[in-house]
Amino acid sequence: STQIARHLSTHLSVIRNVTVIGGGSMGSGIAQVSAAAGNSVNLVDVSEDVLKKSKKSIETGLSRVGKKLFSGDTAKINDFVNSTVTRINFTPDIISSVKESDLVVEAIVENLDAKQKLFKSIDKEAPEKTIFATNTSSLSCHKIAEVLSRKDRFAGLHFFNPVQVMKLVEVISISDTSKSTHDLVFEWSKTLGKVPVNCRDTPGFIVNQLLVPNLVQAILMIERGDATARDVDTAMKLGAGYPMGPIELADYVGLDVIYFILQGWQKEFPNEPRYQIPETLKKLIEQKKLGVKTGEGFYQYKK
Ligand code: NAI
Repeated sequence: STQIARHLSTHLSVIRNVTVIGGGSMGSGIAQVSAAAGNSVNLVDVSEDVLKKSKKSIETGLSRVGKKLFSGDTAKINDFVNSTVTRINFTPDIISSVKESDLVVEAIVENLDAKQKLFKSIDKEAPEKTIFATNTSSLSCHKIAEVLSRKDRFAGLHFFNPVQVMKLVEVISISDTSKSTHDLVFEWSKTLGKVPVNCRDTPGFIVNQLLVPNLVQAILMIERGDATARDVDTAMKLGAGYPMGPIELADYVGLDVIYFILQGWQKEFPNEPRYQIPETLKKLIEQKKLGVKTGEGFYQYKK
């Protein structure tokens, strides 16, 4: 009966209070869509400077949404932006944030040690009911969760960039994830206007597992001189219905990001040819040409 009482006291029917940790591009986006859906949100970052920037970018993002919702009615747009932003508490205080949260979504740097350290520190502080989720792209969720005592209340929630626009969320259950945890985060992601899909804890989940090796093949094709970057992109857009060509997409995602993902997978699966790192990718990175964000990658961009 104590077990039943404990179950009842920790049972969570709906997620309302959310803490997002990491105020970079992903964390800001997740905080924005969560607040817009009516959640009370803490957005936590170690850097005050990042918090200031993320507040600005969220305000800009919300006014873009507002313009569409209220077709140019300035008063209504401002009201929407202000009322949504006030639901977000921008703070460096991680401990008091997690203490009041139903759900914590982690979106800090893509580094296993950093993520484990973070989750270990909040595991002790958060109430029993609190569900933890990671937005990792390429690390294995069960490894991140190794440090947790609440493995049943842990899942992967993989959003896509830009979060405000991309409809997909991959929901990753590890073997310990309970059904109620899964169902709660799955349903919660729908309340954000997203479409959740389920995937086991495998490298790159669904999208990146299919996409990243495809980008590699496109780069290798250029490297061999089979076709130019422009022609590869044109071909895949007009011949396969891709909204962006693979090379354009690589530049957009960031060549360093792709390199980093491949490196991690290669370490784990050294004999997998699909994870080989193309020489061109290494060269461009050495030249600090990382894609759109540095003004040049495979293509040049106006700064
Ligand atoms: P980012 O580098 O823009 O932001 C990370 C933020 O975390 C920084 O502002 C940093 O100050 C903060 N941070 C670092 N350690 C912290 C700690 N211990 N406590 C609190 N804040 C801390 O990174 P981005 O691109 O937003 O990615 C975040 C996560 O989302 C990564 O795991 C990444 O793999 C994943 N992801 C990224 C996507 C992308 O396209 N950028 C897509 C989907 C997932």
